[in-house]
Parts: sequence; C-alpha cells; structure tokens
Amino acid sequence: MRVLIIGSGGREHALSWKIRRSGRTEKLYCAPGNGGTAAEGENIVLKDDDVDGLVRFAREHEIDMVIPGPELPLTLGVTDAMKQAGIRCFGPDKWCAQLEGSKSFAKRIMERAGVPTAACGIFETLEEARDFLHRKGAPIVIKADGLAAGKGVIVAKTEAEAEDALNQIMGGAFGKAGHRVVIEEFLEGEEVSLLAFCSGETALPLPSAQDHKAAFDGDTGPNTGGMGAYSPAPILPDTELERMADIAIRPILREMAAQGHPFVGILYAGLMITKNGPKVLEYNVRFGDPECQPLLMRLDNDLLDVMTACIDGRLEEVTLSIRPESALGVVIAAEGYPGSYPKGMLIEGLDQADNLPNTKVFQAGTRREGDKTFSNGGRVLCVTALGSSLAEAQKHAYEAVSLVQMDKSQHRTDIGAKGLRRLA
Ligand code: AMP
Ligand code: GLY
Repeated sequence: MRVLIIGSGGREHALSWKIRRSGRTEKLYCAPGNGGTAAEGENIVLKDDDVDGLVRFAREHEIDMVIPGPELPLTLGVTDAMKQAGIRCFGPDKWCAQLEGSKSFAKRIMERAGVPTAACGIFETLEEARDFLHRKGAPIVIKADGLAAGKGVIVAKTEAEAEDALNQIMGGAFGKAGHRVVIEEFLEGEEVSLLAFCSGETALPLPSAQDHKAAFDGDTGPNTGGMGAYSPAPILPDTELERMADIAIRPILREMAAQGHPFVGILYAGLMITKNGPKVLEYNVRFGDPECQPLLMRLDNDLLDVMTACIDGRLEEVTLSIRPESALGVVIAAEGYPGSYPKGMLIEGLDQADNLPNTKVFQAGTRREGDKTFSNGGRVLCVTALGSSLAEAQKHAYEAVSLVQMDKSQHRTDIGAKGLRRLA
C-alpha cells in the first residue's frame, strides 16, 4: 500500500515507524513530517490543514491509505474529502470529529448515550455564564467550546479566576472556539486514557495509558501537550478494559451510528477515576501524543491490517496482539516550553540511544540537515522503552534519555512515578 501520514509530531513519527514495519507498505509519505519521519519515508511540504492540497497529492500519488495524526484535519473534514476521492482514510468524518472539535457536542452525545461525565451548563452569553458560575461557586472548570490548542480548559480554584477565564474566552481570546462555553463541575481523582480502534459499533480497546500534562515534576507548572506517557497504567489494568469500554466507548459508538454517522478510527476517552466511579472528561478522535508512542511499541499487529479492517467494517475479525511488557516515553522539550523557547539546537546521541535494546527515540520538533539533527519545536523527542515491568521500562527509558545531548532542554524526571506509587 501507498500510505500518507498527516502531521509532524512524535505521534506521527511513531505511526511512520510502525507503518514502515508493515509488510504491506510500499511507499510512505508524511506531510509535513519531521526529522524522524524523514528517516522512515518521504516528507512532503504540505500543512495538516491544507485539505485540498492533501487530496490532490493523494490522488496524484495514488495513495491507498491516509492516516491523519492530529485532530485539525479531521475536524476540517479530511476523511470526507478523501472518501469522495475514493481514498481510504483512517479517522472519523467531520460530523463525528465534533466529539473533539466541540465540547458542547461531546457533552450532548454523552448525555444521550448515558456516559458518566461531570455535570455542566452550556452558554452562549456572558451574562448567563456568569450567573451560572456564581450559583455554582468554585472550584469549577471553564472550557471553550472549540479547538484551542490545549489552552481552552481552565480549572479555576476561585470564582474570580473563573470569571477571568469566562471574560477571556467569551471576549474573543479564542476566536470562534470561544463563542460558546461549557462550565463544568470540578472532579477529583486520577486521570487515565482509554483508546480503542473503532468501526461502527465495534470497539477493540488498547491497554490503558497515562499522560503527564504538567510541565514539571510532581505535576507542577503550566499545562503542556504532554511530557511523557506510559502503558499500562495500574489504575486501569487490562482486566478492566472491556468493562471500561462498555462504559466510556461503546455507548458513544451506538449513539453516533444511530445518528447516521458510524465512527471509524481511534476514539480516545480521557477519564477521571473518582471515588464515585469513572467519569469522561473529554473525547479525542485520534491517537494521543505522547500516548501513541508507548502504545504502538506494545502493539504487535500489523497496523495497516487493523486500520484497513476498521475502514472496511471488518474490525470484529481482528484480535489485538499486545506485548506483555510495559512501555514508557519521556519527552525532551526545549527550555521554556510551553511558553516561548529557542530552536535550532544540535541533538547528539540519538543513534546510541536508539541502539539500546527495546528502545526507540521518537522525534517531534526536529529537522534533519545532512547527517545532523536539530531541534525545531517545543516538544523535541519522546524517548520510549519497553521493560518487563513499569519500573524496568522507566529505568530503560531514562538510561536512553541520559545518552541524548541537547543544549537548552528540559524533561520531567518522574514519568511513571504515579503508577509506581499505586503498585507499591
Ligand atoms: P480536557 O481537554 O477536557 O481533557 O481538559 C484538560 C484537562 O483539564 C484534563 O486533562 C484535566 O486535567 C482537567 N479537567 C478537565 N475537566 C475537568 C473536570 N471536570 N474536573 C477536573 N479537572 C478537569
Ligand atoms: N496527550 C494528550 C493529547 O494528545 O491530547
């Protein structure tokens, strides 16, 4: 098959790496890709939101399978456009992608499907939103309805903080994404992610994963795209996956199908395990970054087989084959991320780290120049390793991290610590 991957992060390097290892891959392109995807296939200069350009490229290059990594092309309708051109695309259509693209849409679907989630109000005027906020009090969570690059959720400890967030969001700081706002009950508990391959009403859950969203150790500092992830997370063991998929994934699939839009692709449920049971915080309609990196290191199936089965409505014929080891990935970021950060730092030691057994350095914000690799973004690498236990995976991943040199870098030293505490 001739494959086109869309995106430029660590997730897309992991997808490229896995697809390259499929016996069915003839040719692999990544748009726009990074230094890592350049080593797996060919990078092409097309942005992830250029749906027309991507369709034109896919037609001209006789692409058989398109794999969008990030949410943006999905919410813009890349799957619908590829389908119209007769090209398979692994991801939901534009209607289904609203599950991620609109928080109020997701809330309404969860309500109809009977999925447990935080109580909320949905507002389009500042007066009504303020009113509701002051009736409910703090702590409380304010969410811009639309996509806001991970910055649209404010967990407010005081009413004043919540009011500030409302003013910002509804005052135009988030453009169209802030025309509507969801105000949500604050939930306490531990977060965990459940991702599943989905096709119509069929879901095959992957093992659990846990992301680390805060920039610094001990879950302190600003929220980022994710500073590391591991799988499985002890809070959601393999024995609980089917039960959790019945609570958080399958009811949504039935509701989407009933509304005439069978969901195809990855459905990702962000869960909060509270003392009153699991509650869904959000849905993503794609692999998480960096959750994808450890998850794909554990997946033994041919990824193209699984994706093709999803698109062709044959997912029930597939059994996922998961390696028993734990996997853990540590993100190396540029100093200052998620704020402003420098670019262009030389990265050394990549080959030494990659050559360790059961270790893979997935690249995100990197570019290659000749035989050298330079940083080119906020999250630069995700150093990922397998181990016979979570503790072993953590040890191997940090050994590999210690072999990588980059000036002006930062990484968390406690990826996996929460899981280890739960096992202790
Ligand atoms: P979301 O994009 O909806 O997952 O929100 C981003 C982050 O905000 C989540 O990963 C949580 O850490 C936090 N969050 C979202 N909703 C809530 C909630 N209702 N209660 C507590 N924390 C929340
Ligand atoms: N790591 C969280 C996400 O990809 O949304």
